[in-house]
Amino acid sequence: MKQHILELLEQSLAKLKDQSIIAADFTPRLQLDRTKDKSHGDFATNLALMTAKAAGKPPRDLAQLLIDNLPASEHIAKVEIAGPGFINFFVDDNTLANQLQAALDDEHLGVPLPESQTIVVDLSSPNLAKEMHVGHLRSSIIGDAVARALEFLGHKVIRQNHVGDWGTQFGMLLAYMEEMRAQNTEISMALSDLESFYRAAKKRFDESEDFAKRARELVVELQSGDEDCLALWREFNEISLDHCQQVYDKLNVKLTRDDVRGESSYNPDLAQVVADLEASGLLTEDQGAKCVFLDEFKNQNGDPLPVIVQKQGGGFLYSTTDLAAMRYRQNQLNADRALYFVDQRQGLHFQQVFSVARKAGFVKDGLSLEHMGFGTMNGEDGKPFKTRSGDTVKLIDLLNEAEQRAFELVKSKNPDLSEDELREIALAVGIGSVKYADLSKNRSSDYIFSFEQMLSFEGNTAPYLLYALTRVRNILRKATEAGIDASQSPIALEQEKEVELANKLAQFAEVINRLAERGTPHVLCGYLFELAGVFSSFYEACPVLSAEQTSARDSRLKLAKLTERTLKTGLELLGIKTLERM
Ligand code: ARG
Repeated sequence: MKQHILELLEQSLAKLKDQSIIAADFTPRLQLDRTKDKSHGDFATNLALMTAKAAGKPPRDLAQLLIDNLPASEHIAKVEIAGPGFINFFVDDNTLANQLQAALDDEHLGVPLPESQTIVVDLSSPNLAKEMHVGHLRSSIIGDAVARALEFLGHKVIRQNHVGDWGTQFGMLLAYMEEMRAQNTEISMALSDLESFYRAAKKRFDESEDFAKRARELVVELQSGDEDCLALWREFNEISLDHCQQVYDKLNVKLTRDDVRGESSYNPDLAQVVADLEASGLLTEDQGAKCVFLDEFKNQNGDPLPVIVQKQGGGFLYSTTDLAAMRYRQNQLNADRALYFVDQRQGLHFQQVFSVARKAGFVKDGLSLEHMGFGTMNGEDGKPFKTRSGDTVKLIDLLNEAEQRAFELVKSKNPDLSEDELREIALAVGIGSVKYADLSKNRSSDYIFSFEQMLSFEGNTAPYLLYALTRVRNILRKATEAGIDASQSPIALEQEKEVELANKLAQFAEVINRLAERGTPHVLCGYLFELAGVFSSFYEACPVLSAEQTSARDSRLKLAKLTERTLKTGLELLGIKTLERM
């Protein structure tokens, strides 16, 4: 509908240009928004206000001219001028009903599919030396939700888990594995708790000069391709990636081992990256390190900031790997967009490496590089989330606690459910709540993690939405049990609340497109929350199964069906499992 109205406006504008009322070369940005207040129609544009000055006419006069020149459309019931010169469009109820019928008939809920692009989604990407902690939650679930939405729109999505599996800390871990071996300790046992393993290795590193020396030797051996070191390193990574996979499965994040493309995979390309930067004249040597200085990046004193690509001793850095990864995404994957779901605090890093990659010609204009940064998850004290003793919280522990709390909650509400059922519901509610609480916040802001809030049945929460969905499903189930088949009856929008619900349902495509463009799952959360609210007031005002006329009953059943599918699809795109009852 939005597209249709934009086209009508486009044509009206062209006619005004033909009549020389507006200069032929004047091209205002066409904007059409959903109205908040339905007495202003469904869509509004400020086009007349934007164009009035150039046309030398009062905005309201120009608005009238724009309206007079709009091509006739059966989809528009009424067009009005409002306030200083806004134009309001009222969509025809029949058109709206047809649009919803088309959505019901389509597995994509009537969402038009754009031209398909190849989109790399860089997500999760923990450093493998330690276990995944709460800091990895946001990257994993926000990236996953956006990836799902892009796939829903028909894009080719390539998930890349850019794990930190290469770097100096591995020397220390390998040295410790070597020691374990010498003492005949079973390594996989020792590694079953990565956190303790890391701490024990670090302790040895700090207390023994010999150990530290060996660790440094091992990094060099590893990086120069020594087979024994590589074998140990692979063993370490295997176990570490298994830990990650457990977390992804529990979180219902669509990541597998095939999506892992860690820093180490770019190792063979790093020397070439540096050589090519050298050849393009971008490299400067500064205290033995190879750097790129770009004019746009300066510190507070106005001194240029370097992007270091090779250290004095020859070692490569995080930036070098990212440059190689961009090249891979451009040349091997032929990506149109590369989206990076990484902590906002790495903003400068990404601005810098994106800029270097462009200047060096590693990526072409056709590849859009987008850092989708996110804020910090804080504890109730407003400081980064920690355990009572000040340690970082393991993600798996947090998820288990959420599940346990959900279990108590669901049990208190439904003491009669069987243990199995309770467990299933608790898993969906517990994990869903952690995810939803995060996804529903604007990703660039910090937020406070609170079990109480996320598990509440009131407000914009997972329990509220999951419960709302079970209520809609309940109505549909009863209809089926009563043998009602509404599929052949038309949707008829007569009551105010029916129109209101229909309007909300019709907005799904716009919401998904905005999410896909900006990488912001919270817009979908906000929409689903509104939809559930609108449905509930519709249901209060318009009885469904007990409607007086069969035609009204069937039409309302269809609205309920579409609400069910929209809520379910929306939650699925957020990576949240839904329930039949709870
Ligand atoms: N491993 C990094 C970290 O934990 C995040 C990597 C993000 N992705 C990237 N291409 N740099 O901070």
